Amino acid sequence: MLLRLACAIAFIPSFAAAQDVQQGREIALRWCSSCHVVERAATVAPADGLPTFPAIAGKPGLSVDQLRAAMNPQHSRMPDFALSRRQQDDVIAYIYSLRIK
Ligand code: HEC
Repeated sequence: MLLRLACAIAFIPSFAAAQDVQQGREIALRWCSSCHVVERAATVAPADGLPTFPAIAGKPGLSVDQLRAAMNPQHSRMPDFALSRRQQDDVIAYIYSLRIK
């Protein structure tokens, strides 16, 4: 587990090095999982076709800015979470961590 985390962090662009993947996972479970499937091992597709986090993580060209924009208020159909910048960074680090298989 520790090794995997270390690998994940090593592959994430330098941005995420200081962020907390575990913390981001907890925020995602709490704030995002009512709509999105947020776990890596997700095998169930959500009935309403919302993108799962592993699917989001796998998008080519995914950028930190896009992820941050998706968490900002008034974007699309998503609610306003009022996540702090630090919490957003943690969630972004978590989503990036799902990229590493
Ligand atoms: C109330 C339901 C809901 C919750 C809760 C929610 N989302 Fe979403 N999310 C959506 C919907 C709906 C879309 C599809 C966007 C659209 O239709 O334009 C979406 C799309 C996204 C996308 C863009 C995916 C893409 O392919 O471009 C990201 C990134 C995302 N959500 C991240 C999050 C994160 C991070 C959280 C938790 C902090 C979260 N969402 C919580 C409903 C939700």
